[in-house]
Amino acid sequence: MACGVVTGTVLVVESCKKSNSGTTPQGPTVNFTIDLSLPANASLNTTGGSGSSNGVVVVNMGSGSFIAVAQSCTHNGCSVSYSQGNNNFLCPCHGATFSTTGAVTNGPASVPLKKYTVTKNGNILTVTG
Ligand code: FES
Repeated sequence: MACGVVTGTVLVVESCKKSNSGTTPQGPTVNFTIDLSLPANASLNTTGGSGSSNGVVVVNMGSGSFIAVAQSCTHNGCSVSYSQGNNNFLCPCHGATFSTTGAVTNGPASVPLKKYTVTKNGNILTVTG
């Protein structure tokens, strides 16, 4: 009986170590749409424009192409925003930066942002991942 308890404790510790390994991108699981014809989403109609919904930042990359990454910085949860000049995502709290694929390009964050699939059909963007 006592051995079973000890083994359980060890498994919990191992589980915690695994979730903090820093290699798995972090972000919510989503499936939502954005209507580009709505005034509230007007910022997404210009190249470099961005908007956020459901914990995800969506960016118009031009030529009908859109990208999306998790909005919550993997360091301590502040909201990242897209910088068109640097073509990356910046966290205002401690200066972490992430590439357009969500990869960490500057600390203190070490875990990538989750990247989402964005498909465009007319004025409707569908964000999934
Ligand atoms: S919360 Fe983003 S860098 Fe610290």
